[in-house]
Amino acid sequence: MVNPICSMLPEDFPWGSRIHLFDCLPSTNDYAKELARQGAPHGTVIVADMQTAGRGRMGRSFHAPKNQGLYLSLILRPECPPDQLMHLTCAVAEAACNAVEQLCGIRPQIKWINDLIMGSKKLGGILTELSVDSKTGRSDWAVIGIGINCCQDRSDFPPELQDMATSLLLSTGSGYSPYSLACALIRELYDLSDQLLSGKDEMLKQYRQDCLTIGKEISVSKGGAVFHGKALDIDRDGGLIVMLEDGTIQTVQAGEVSVRGLYGYV
Ligand code: BTN
Repeated sequence: MVNPICSMLPEDFPWGSRIHLFDCLPSTNDYAKELARQGAPHGTVIVADMQTAGRGRMGRSFHAPKNQGLYLSLILRPECPPDQLMHLTCAVAEAACNAVEQLCGIRPQIKWINDLIMGSKKLGGILTELSVDSKTGRSDWAVIGIGINCCQDRSDFPPELQDMATSLLLSTGSGYSPYSLACALIRELYDLSDQLLSGKDEMLKQYRQDCLTIGKEISVSKGGAVFHGKALDIDRDGGLIVMLEDGTIQTVQAGEVSVRGLYGYV
């Protein structure tokens, strides 16, 4: 059977033969990681109509009901040390914003570092996982997972997510097929992989414009401690520059950041 995503891409699209579509997987990221360990090439894309064990950052689950969202993972094999890839999640968030804007005419915002936001609610998220070759110190593979809610109504989300989550349908009033979004996103990801290092500064310029966290009061949870402060800017690697309550400036590279006024943080 013809893969419906491939049939929407140009015939000579370089990753065309590497796009694999499944009815159901536990997690497209887990499947892609297994393929990456077995040697699958750069540009391998896994899409599933649903996931039974979709994962988010910080060990959270990602709700992924059948045909209601886009659940996609991509294997990249960047030829550089991992410290040159600190901005990867930001770059993928930008690719996702571009794809959504192309399809719907509305650009999502980004809650640092990986949440896609529309109308102050979570539209989707990104989970980046990296493996480093212990002999060479270079990155072996990166698996980038993207989940975007497309067709859910409010009642399709579990009760605890209903006030926090949105879909393209809820935010724009129109239904968009996950496969059309996959097509736009795969093209954006191809461009991203081409310009991952050379286009970093330009990408981060746009990321700063899309990032709703900048200028807001935030709290940062890290290693069991919680810090409060104000988000000032994004640094040259995608880290969040924060002024803490005692006036010191710190850059946050990892951890959970809550933005006051978003998702019930008051
Ligand atoms: C987050 O919100 O913290 C990130 C969510 C990432 C979800 C996507 S869906 C496709 C891929 N497979 C997974 O198990 N997770 C990612």
